Amino acid sequence: MKIVVLNGSPKGDNSVTMQYVAFIKKKYSQHEFVICNVAQGIRKLESDNQVFEEITEKVRAADGVVWAFPLYVFLVHSGYKRFIELITERAAQEAFAGKPAAILTTSIHFFDHTAHNYLHGICDDLDMKVYGSYSAGMHDIFKEDARGSLLEFSETFFAAIEGRLPAAKVYPPILNQGSEYVPGSQQRKFDAGGLKVVIVTDAEEYQINLKRMIESMTARFSGQAEVFNLHNVDIKGGCLGCIKCGYDNTCAYSGKDGFIDFYNSRIKNADIIIFAGAICDRYLSSLWKTFFDRAFFNTHMPMLKGKQIGFLISGPFRQLPNLRQIFEGYTEWQEANLAGIVTDEYSESKEIDGLLEEMARQSIEFAKRRYIKPATFLGVGGRKIFRDEIWGQIRFPFAADHKYYKDNGVYDFPQRDYTTRLRNILFGLLIKVPAVRDKLYGGLMITKMVEPYKKLLAKL
Ligand SMILES: Cc1cc2nc3c(=O)[nH]c(=O)nc-3n(C[C@H](O)[C@H](O)[C@H](O)COP(=O)(O)O)c2cc1C
Repeated sequence: MKIVVLNGSPKGDNSVTMQYVAFIKKKYSQHEFVICNVAQGIRKLESDNQVFEEITEKVRAADGVVWAFPLYVFLVHSGYKRFIELITERAAQEAFAGKPAAILTTSIHFFDHTAHNYLHGICDDLDMKVYGSYSAGMHDIFKEDARGSLLEFSETFFAAIEGRLPAAKVYPPILNQGSEYVPGSQQRKFDAGGLKVVIVTDAEEYQINLKRMIESMTARFSGQAEVFNLHNVDIKGGCLGCIKCGYDNTCAYSGKDGFIDFYNSRIKNADIIIFAGAICDRYLSSLWKTFFDRAFFNTHMPMLKGKQIGFLISGPFRQLPNLRQIFEGYTEWQEANLAGIVTDEYSESKEIDGLLEEMARQSIEFAKRRYIKPATFLGVGGRKIFRDEIWGQIRFPFAADHKYYKDNGVYDFPQRDYTTRLRNILFGLLIKVPAVRDKLYGGLMITKMVEPYKKLLAKL
């Protein structure tokens, strides 16, 4: 069988993900694997349509396609995202339609599910037959059982292709049913009172609703919001994945383009940040993805901690719960507060007006009160993954993260919590005694559990 591997790593052949592919290739030498470095070669693919068509020709001739990519900031790398956009822009969907597909990622499992959901949605949009997805931890290949499981996955994929098995679609098609947003003339304004408000966008001339939402929003902040368009920021390219930033957050692009200065001076200094963009396939544009990837020079530190973050979205956002989760997860792991997400999915413009007004009012209010709502599983879970990874496997090369985590109490596992450790030892021994165990796990547990809460309440 001929299998085309669409490589989503900016590092091309020198990619961790490609080592997993190489392992599969080694074990299934009867199949031909054609590897296309689409994320690394995105510049060429964009500028030279013939090179792009050579890839789609390979896909057309393939028995199966493997979307093999590393996780990049909740999703795929910006170059891969751009490749996905080109498929539609250049009307190449027909090369993918009906093709068997598999999704293979490497990552540290931080929001790997949102990337998988995204790519599965893209495959469904392209009418591909997704036979399976596999999320490998980036070091899994060193474990025998993980290698075995990867081979099981591969074999299942090849068998599904051979057997022409049916594949369930998971995501319904996205319907674009927007209506024009016409802002009302009566706009309530709020005084940001010295707070720094920035609106970052990638809005283009033709994106009328988005531009109007930004104008309305700026007006509501009494004209005190600064608007930055990513098209005007000097961004030389996407994240290289080189991890030069790991040591002291110096990006490989430092001194070579304007992104780091822009991020440090405009984003990090703001109190309220509004991200404004339009839906492009099942995410925002690849330019937005470049923004989020390039911000990785801050590595795994929540550099937007304490800020109010809002989103202005034009397009069918409500049909994309996965994207909502990305925004929520992003805000929570940043230890920031999600001040709201306003979209243009309302037939009545005054509803949008009202929501914009509320987002402006609330973000100012929350910023003044320094209110950050507690993280849910998304933020708590994400933080724990980073904590464990930086403590262990990836402390080198992420030296700056390790220092930050030490200095800021991120290493909060119960290593120094001696009271808890002592209690665990004591009760661990006590519950081995049947009579005590019966008593504790009987009626006593419920009353004992709330006892400290009651004591605290009595004091408050
Ligand atoms: C800029 C950047 C962003 C990343 N974002 C994520 C992420 O959101 N979630 C995750 O689990 N791993 C993330 N990773 C880790 C990579 O996915 C992981 O190291 C992967 O194995 C790299 O594969 P590659 O060598 O094929 O590019 C990120 C790494 C980099 C450099």
